[in-house]
Amino acid sequence: MSPSDAPRSIQARIAELRERIRRHNRLYYGLGKPEISDSEYDKLFQSLQDLEEQYPDLVVPDSPTQRVGYIEVEDYGSSPPAVASASVFSKVPHDRPLLSLDSVLAPDDVYAFDKRVKKELEIERIEYVVEPKYDGLSVVIVYEEGKFAGGATRGDGQTGELITPNLRSILSRLQCLTIEGNVPKRIVVRGEVYLRLPDFQALNRQLAERGEKTFANPRNAASGSLRQLDAGITASRPLVLTCYDLMVSSDPLPLTHWETVTKLHEWGLLVPDPAQRQLCNGIEEVIAFHRSMMEQREDLPFEIDGIVVKLNSRDFQEQLGEKSRSPRWAIAFKFPPRKELTIVQDIVVSVGRTGALTPIALLTPVEVGGVTISRATLHNVEEVARKDVRVGDTVKVERAGDVIPDIVERIEIPGEQRAGAFEAPRACPVCQSAVVQEGPVYYCTGRTVCSAQLKGGIQHFASKGALNIEGLGGKTVAQLVDKALVKDLADLYRLTEEQLLSLDGFAEKSAAQLLVAISQSKTPSLERFLFGLGIHHVGHHVAQILASQFGSLDKLLAVTREELLEIHDVGPEIAQSVVSFFAEERNVAVLNAMKTLGVNVQAVSSEKSGQAGPLKGKSFVFTGGLENVSRPEATQRLQALGGRVTSSVSKHTSYVVVGKDPGSKLDEAKRLGITVLDEAGFLELLRAGGD
Ligand code: IVH
Repeated sequence: MSPSDAPRSIQARIAELRERIRRHNRLYYGLGKPEISDSEYDKLFQSLQDLEEQYPDLVVPDSPTQRVGYIEVEDYGSSPPAVASASVFSKVPHDRPLLSLDSVLAPDDVYAFDKRVKKELEIERIEYVVEPKYDGLSVVIVYEEGKFAGGATRGDGQTGELITPNLRSILSRLQCLTIEGNVPKRIVVRGEVYLRLPDFQALNRQLAERGEKTFANPRNAASGSLRQLDAGITASRPLVLTCYDLMVSSDPLPLTHWETVTKLHEWGLLVPDPAQRQLCNGIEEVIAFHRSMMEQREDLPFEIDGIVVKLNSRDFQEQLGEKSRSPRWAIAFKFPPRKELTIVQDIVVSVGRTGALTPIALLTPVEVGGVTISRATLHNVEEVARKDVRVGDTVKVERAGDVIPDIVERIEIPGEQRAGAFEAPRACPVCQSAVVQEGPVYYCTGRTVCSAQLKGGIQHFASKGALNIEGLGGKTVAQLVDKALVKDLADLYRLTEEQLLSLDGFAEKSAAQLLVAISQSKTPSLERFLFGLGIHHVGHHVAQILASQFGSLDKLLAVTREELLEIHDVGPEIAQSVVSFFAEERNVAVLNAMKTLGVNVQAVSSEKSGQAGPLKGKSFVFTGGLENVSRPEATQRLQALGGRVTSSVSKHTSYVVVGKDPGSKLDEAKRLGITVLDEAGFLELLRAGGD
């Protein structure tokens, strides 16, 4: 068939699909701001692939189906952004193209893949290896004589961006700058960089505490952390690099993929966990593995969006070869999308423990990635206005790593009749107190009379990260407050068996268990206790700093704003909030009552709190890779001597320790006239015990 034989409508459809895909490529790879979900993108791509298969004469070399990826080269002039966009890093050609994978969603497509492979290889049963499809960023790392020699992003598959210092910082933390045990002279390894979910959540908490912008999901966070011009920032984020391919080796490559992964592991690299990969004898085992991973998906500590199915034999892989952008011997068997459409039934306002009023969309229940969702946060009034979400609207909801689902966007339905816009609350919906606005957030002013704030505060105090009182869940707390059995945190320690037995759902055994759990919470660490008090702006990170700096609750009760401001990570807002909390008589009365009731907050040992030790009061910032000691070890040794490690340089920093390929922190140190130590000088300081 010649091109002119294809109907004009088909030619136009193909042109339109290519244009749309190119636009989304630019948004995704070039600007890092995707507008559509991966599954929507996959659908567009699949439609184009199908049409091109039907009309092969219309395939052109620059069709998105014939290319691996896309880099939009932009001119940033003289001031590159801190988070690098595609053109800022220098480019490096890959030894071999970094291919992408064809993806399928339906088991039928997996059977079809198996059938095609068996037919082409003329064999009855194929051995596959299945692994998680990590939702991160693909990178290559090169080792020469067992030493990390450099690394790059995937880029357009042919050419990557050189991000050696950033990768060095990750490998240094993972202790893989040097690998050992019969390692070939030169190897190129491919893997995925990502953030584990608890680390993603902690990072977002930390950013929020500092008033910085948080990341929408772990992949954005990993990308934002890796593509930093200041590798020191990458170093401060606990990124992980899991390796899944040996692309080049100066020695013969292993004969199977399974052996390859085993070798990578033996050399000391991180590979997919044995519990999450499998050697499958035939396609049925592949299907079963997919099902089992989908069930485990929510429990995994990292995001995956499917599994990767690879032929085990390298010989077979070579026989099948590859297309221009993907191998013919592997596919991505994806999970159903985690974004779905549903309808907003109502928008209500919930009152948090800090009094913050959060608009919540009540949704027609919808299953997203295996979990039914009926509520989604709209964050604040500005966000509702920006997304223009109203009752009755069709919206796209997403679950991305975090527990609370998010509304991605409103879907416009042509000709729809819409309800009026959401109006900001004029009073607290629970206690009717007046509201005040702080930035985009409205707060209830009824601090001590608002039962919603009290309930939230108690739940927070009892939560896992705080006093960890098992059995004190939302329903119990609600009853305790509604029945006026608990009017403040100290009342928890006054509860009796009789009172608990008066609550719905309590019998003798459960009442006794809760009393034991409450009693066991009477010796909390200072850090947990401070976090549990729910002081505005005091999250895990700040609580930890306050505990290690001041060591005891008594010291904090008398702390001044000036003393707090001397601490590097404490700004005026946190300082004010802490001082106000301990200055409030009612708070002190509750703390005293708790003490009388037997709550004994554990003081931090002077060694850990930086009260003692020759480096007491000294703060250190690292930049660049240390070669003879890992960062965690260096940090531990400093802390043992009473020193502190902080993430950025300020006039309060005592020393900046400079390793290989330092980042902009070194310039900052020079600008502020801060003492700079090289690795040898730093080790000497440690050896001399701080003298
Ligand atoms: S193998 C030729 N294995 O998925 C083999 N890729 O859509 C190509 N990915 O760009 C890659 N986990 O970034 C492979 N276990 C895994 C993977 C994996 C995640 C990513 C990789 C690739 C994308 C393809």
